[in-house]
Amino acid sequence: MSTLSRRDALQMAAAGAALAATVASPAGAAAPSAPTGNSFTAVREPTPLPFKPDALKGLSEKLIKSHWENNYVGAVKALNVVRGKLAQAMADPDLPAYLYGGLKREQLMRSGSVVYHDLYFGNLGGNGQADAATRTQLSKHFGTFDAWESEFRRVGNALAGGTGWVVLAWNPALKTLENNWLLDHTNGVTGSTPILVMDLYEHAFHMDYGSAAAKYIDAFMANVNWETVAARLKTVAA
Ligand SMILES: [Fe+2]
Repeated sequence: MSTLSRRDALQMAAAGAALAATVASPAGAAAPSAPTGNSFTAVREPTPLPFKPDALKGLSEKLIKSHWENNYVGAVKALNVVRGKLAQAMADPDLPAYLYGGLKREQLMRSGSVVYHDLYFGNLGGNGQADAATRTQLSKHFGTFDAWESEFRRVGNALAGGTGWVVLAWNPALKTLENNWLLDHTNGVTGSTPILVMDLYEHAFHMDYGSAAAKYIDAFMANVNWETVAARLKTVAA
């Protein structure tokens, strides 16, 4: 098995640690920068909120700021740290495989958190009104738009009290749009493309609604950015 030299690994780790400490840009700033480096050295920076944190209806500025700063930015920083640790670990041929596996689990968990949170914040900040073309497209797969929305909300309520994500996704293998129930950041149907993502972890709503997740789901739906959803739909063959 080929291994990285200790010098290479330390350089990778140092680069990762330095960039992991990068402070997020304020909400509303520019789009994220393109990633640089390879799988060990790539450093992710937080994507700024695409809306002002006080702009949403029924979701407080305090909640949105806490969610973005603590949960999302925390996941980005953790992913960068894990990458540096993986480089260090690869330089040690005696490291037990199960310890390396633990780091890979963390990488999977943090990667999923970063990606789903990017999608989640990216599909908020709208007026909650789906355009006619999108309604028609969802009707094609669910019978009616209301049937889609009813199931999307029901999946959300099914996760309330636990953790996870509700994801409207395009499944290219089954050639259908479907509402997926994701227990955590590591879940998702293989090969599917997320179209609309709703966070059902308690940190997404408890500050505003306590355990009343259904009220949070109402607020989420009222703030969906359907222009973003429509743009995502155009990337798939739904
Ligand atoms: Fe979250």
